[in-house]
Amino acid sequence: MRIVVPSAAEPAVLEAMAELALEAAAQISERWLPSLARAREEVAEALGEGRRTRIAVSPAGEVAGWISCFHTYGDVWEIHPLLVAPRFQGQGIGARLVGEAERLIAAEGAGVIIVGTSDEVRGTSASGRDLYADLAGALATFTASPSHPAGFWLKMGYTLVGFTPDAEGPGMPSINFAKRPARDRRGRR
Ligand SMILES: CC(C)(COP(=O)(O)OP(=O)(O)OC[C@H]1O[C@@H](n2cnc3c(N)ncnc32)[C@H](O)[C@@H]1OP(=O)(O)O)[C@@H](O)C(=O)NCCC(=O)NCCS
Repeated sequence: MRIVVPSAAEPAVLEAMAELALEAAAQISERWLPSLARAREEVAEALGEGRRTRIAVSPAGEVAGWISCFHTYGDVWEIHPLLVAPRFQGQGIGARLVGEAERLIAAEGAGVIIVGTSDEVRGTSASGRDLYADLAGALATFTASPSHPAGFWLKMGYTLVGFTPDAEGPGMPSINFAKRPARDRRGRR
């Protein structure tokens, strides 16, 4: 599996990224990328100014997954999106893409990496409850089903830092994670 920079000069690759995005996003959300047109927009955004985007290409030349990251404000960088084609999931590709994005972000001198993942599918303990009523309890008892990506981010060393209640509708929050970028041997970011 190679990790490479996608090029606007390769429309077939961009189309493969969009098709993959449509398929992978549908696993967790009905709203995020509801059409191929919207998935193509997501790809176009990922190739825009200030974005760092990488694709995983299989030995057969198929686009297996992709990731993008960007500066948001202050010392904050965000990873969005991360998508691995369903037939390539569970082979370490998501972890490799995250590692690559984290390396890029650390090289920018970032202070924190953030990731948000919505729960529209009742895949975590944060869904279907009033997070305003007991935020501390929801944080302390958080669990995710194996089919929801929240567990993947925990596995990648991200810390649950909060929720955005009702982000995708009543009882459907966004789950917010953060991670400190690696430092070099001199302790610099
Ligand atoms: C979430 C996603 C990116 C994971 O990619 P992947 O290539 O299947 O994951 P990997 O094979 O690299 O898994 C790395 C590790 O995380 C674990 N893992 C993967 N998905 C997991 C999940 N949903 N919950 C808990 N652990 C998970 C794996 O078991 C593996 O653990 P190991 O190192 O002990 O073997 C992929 O399933 C996907 O694209 N899903 C649909 C879109 C999506 O949810 N994107 C993220 C939106 S925030």
